[in-house]
Amino acid sequence: MGSHSRARRVAAALGFAGLLCAVLGVIMIVMVPSIIKQQVLKNVRIDPSSLSFNMWKEIPVPFYLSVYFFDVVNPKEILQGQKPRVQERGPYVYREFRHKSNITFNDNDTVSFLEYRSFQFQPDKSRGLESDSIVMPNILVLSAAMMMENGPMSLKLIMTLAFSTLGERAFMNRTVSEIMWGYEDPLIHIINKYFPNTFPFKGKFGLFAELNNSDSGLFTVFTGVKNFSRIHLVDKWNGISKVNFWHSDQCNMINGTSGQMWAPFMTPESSLEFYSPEACRSMKLIYKEQGVFEGIPTFRFVAPNTLFANGSIYPPNEGFCPCRESGIQNVSTCRFNAPLFLSHPHFYNADPVLAEAVSGLHPNPEEHSLFLDIHPTNWEDRAGDPATDVVWRERGNGG
Ligand SMILES: *[C@@H]1O[C@H](CO)[C@@H](O)[C@H](O)[C@H]1NC(C)=O
Ligand SMILES: *[C@@H]1O[C@H](CO)[C@@H](O)[C@H](O)[C@H]1NC(C)=O
Ligand SMILES: *[C@@H]1O[C@H](CO)[C@@H](O)[C@H](O)[C@H]1NC(C)=O
Ligand SMILES: *[C@@H]1O[C@H](CO)[C@@H](O)[C@H](O)[C@H]1NC(C)=O
Ligand SMILES: *[C@@H]1O[C@H](CO)[C@@H](O)[C@H](O)[C@H]1NC(C)=O
Ligand SMILES: *[C@@H]1O[C@H](CO)[C@@H](O)[C@H](O)[C@H]1NC(C)=O
Ligand SMILES: *[C@@H]1O[C@H](CO)[C@@H](O)[C@H](O)[C@H]1NC(C)=O
Ligand SMILES: *[C@@H]1O[C@H](CO)[C@@H](O)[C@H](O)[C@H]1NC(C)=O
Repeated sequence: MGSHSRARRVAAALGFAGLLCAVLGVIMIVMVPSIIKQQVLKNVRIDPSSLSFNMWKEIPVPFYLSVYFFDVVNPKEILQGQKPRVQERGPYVYREFRHKSNITFNDNDTVSFLEYRSFQFQPDKSRGLESDSIVMPNILVLSAAMMMENGPMSLKLIMTLAFSTLGERAFMNRTVSEIMWGYEDPLIHIINKYFPNTFPFKGKFGLFAELNNSDSGLFTVFTGVKNFSRIHLVDKWNGISKVNFWHSDQCNMINGTSGQMWAPFMTPESSLEFYSPEACRSMKLIYKEQGVFEGIPTFRFVAPNTLFANGSIYPPNEGFCPCRESGIQNVSTCRFNAPLFLSHPHFYNADPVLAEAVSGLHPNPEEHSLFLDIHPTNWEDRAGDPATDVVWRERGNGG
């Protein structure tokens, strides 16, 4: 009898548990979207107590930087006026580690931090070794020549003499590792002597020499803790709220986030804006399409055709001029006056005369466009708002 009543009690308890589950199930079905929304709201804020804080501080997803070079095949003939011929080499792949430090929470809903980056070569992901030789334009000589343009005659004579005695040529043959991470060149000392404080390199010169183990500037961004409306947006970069590299207020504006996280609940009407310290400007990507990456639904945002358009084609870009053909942006004011331009790889989306002027360039959207895939979390059905998380895929940094 005792066991009988116990069995009934167990059955009742189980029944109750079942009922509870059913009720909970109903409540969950009704409540879950708003609970998830609340949780997302709570956890995307930059707050030491939020789930994503450690991810924000030290990005756990591996980033890879793939670098391609154009090997100049006919340097001697170019100097005699022939069309340049180039061969694409690479990718040379680096794993990029990023961590934020000097994190200071300010009392006005912002946080300031430095983000350090370091790079490690990945031979197994690369096609080629860091010891490969590449022939490319000698940026130092071209920069020095540019700097001299408005200088006094005496300086031009000194430089011309320096070029010939040092054996500096318009093209150089260097290894990938030298081009990327720096090489000694006596010309650096001469430039620093005659143009003090114009050139950021003291010892070695390399395209990425300043990047390893350095930070990308002091960012101050909104945490979203007190007021969600400006979460992740950049308030200041290096203490300034707009840069002064360009000729219009519009072009100098620091818009969007620091380029890793955006406010959640994006829709196809949203855009991704970010400030890029490397490009010295803000950029805006626009929604293109939905996709799937390894089972994860994504929203793809792409660079609009007007990103590097010149001022006559797209007047808002007038401030980035003096301009040339559309599709390349003169960045010499933010690169120690060196004659450098920013573009998509292979002059994709640029005036076709540019790619035609060099043999070996084959611009196409599959390989050379710039896009970001954002991971949306749909907690309602297909039509629901997606929540934006960390960026998982990034490609095509121009150059
Ligand atoms: C960052 O922190 C380090 C060590 O605490 C300090 O030496 C350095 O000056 C700080 N940098 C900035 C820009 O605040
Ligand atoms: C917030 O405070 C920081 C540090 O004092 C300051 O640099 C920044 O300009 C302030 N931002 C706003 C929006 O008040
Ligand atoms: C970057 O610096 C780290 C630490 O000094 C070093 O181990 C690494 O090899 C450097 N990366 C490159 C590509 O030189
Ligand atoms: C570049 O230099 C390397 C090493 O000195 C040499 O093997 C290679 O042939 C050179 N390339 C050209 C195109 O001169
Ligand atoms: C949040 O910030 C926005 C934009 O700065 C402002 O318009 C709004 O009034 C603020 N909301 C609260 C509750 O302070
Ligand atoms: C910054 O945002 C403003 C307002 O949306 C826009 O007019 C301007 O063109 C943007 N600037 C850049 C460099 O993207
Ligand atoms: C702007 O680009 C177009 C197309 O490439 C070109 O025809 C025009 O000359 C360029 N404008 C300037 C000021 O160079
Ligand atoms: C690039 O811009 C700089 C500074 O505005 C200017 O001096 C230079 O002539 C421009 N270069 C070209 C090739 O247009």
